[in-house]
Amino acid sequence: MTRRSPWRNARGQACGLRDRAADTGLVIRAATTADLERIQAIEVAAAELFRAIGMDAVADDPPPPVEQLEAYVAAGTTWVATDPEVGAIGYVLVDGHAGWSHIEQVTVHPHYARRGVGAALIDHVEEWARGLGQSCLSLTTFSSVPWNGPYYERLGFRHLPEPEWPAYLRSTVEREADHGLAAWPRTVMARSVKQPCPGKNHG
Ligand SMILES: CC(C)(COP(=O)(O)OP(=O)(O)OC[C@H]1O[C@@H](n2cnc3c(N)ncnc32)[C@H](O)[C@@H]1OP(=O)(O)O)[C@@H](O)C(=O)NCCC(=O)NCCS
Repeated sequence: MTRRSPWRNARGQACGLRDRAADTGLVIRAATTADLERIQAIEVAAAELFRAIGMDAVADDPPPPVEQLEAYVAAGTTWVATDPEVGAIGYVLVDGHAGWSHIEQVTVHPHYARRGVGAALIDHVEEWARGLGQSCLSLTTFSSVPWNGPYYERLGFRHLPEPEWPAYLRSTVEREADHGLAAWPRTVMARSVKQPCPGKNHG
């Protein structure tokens, strides 16, 4: 399925927001069980980024097990970014909650990094969330790792103070701390789901 931007008015004019997938020639589609081994391989390759900055425990964390990925496929909440030459080069896993879509994981194979693939996957999730009438995207991440907290800030996410966390974010933070991730500073971040363009006279 070729991604179509919602950010166009009735005359097909862009509304000042980029369609990053179109910009990069990517196709983003729902993942299938045939993608799962590739998803795991992408995760293993990207984990090495953390070894390079001394976060070996994160690099050594195994990829999500097939059973967990199968559950996301069954729920229809995982997507892959595909390149026509090589197939899947990035993926995103999402958990839906009342009014919120939580990005559980977004990963791009390092060979294809820094071309807007991660941003395009996140935009795709936003489009999906908008269709469900949700108002917010959330994620948890490392505060200071350049491709985590600072990257999401560049994509318009803000740090969400603890009093604003819905219950699922509290559980997520606790679960991740139990898993050892709190050994480095962590943050909870959120971005509003933007509304579609106004009518054709305002495009
Ligand atoms: C986070 C991630 C998905 C971004 O994917 P991407 O397709 O490279 O991101 P984009 O092309 O949309 O944006 C690139 C920006 O990300 C940041 N970034 C990505 N890789 C980086 C790196 N190795 N070092 C520093 N900054 C990096 C920079 O801000 C970069 O902008 P720049 O190229 O203008 O400097 C990817 O880096 C990744 O898979 N990382 C490992 C897994 C991970 O940490 N996932 C997030 C868990 S919360």
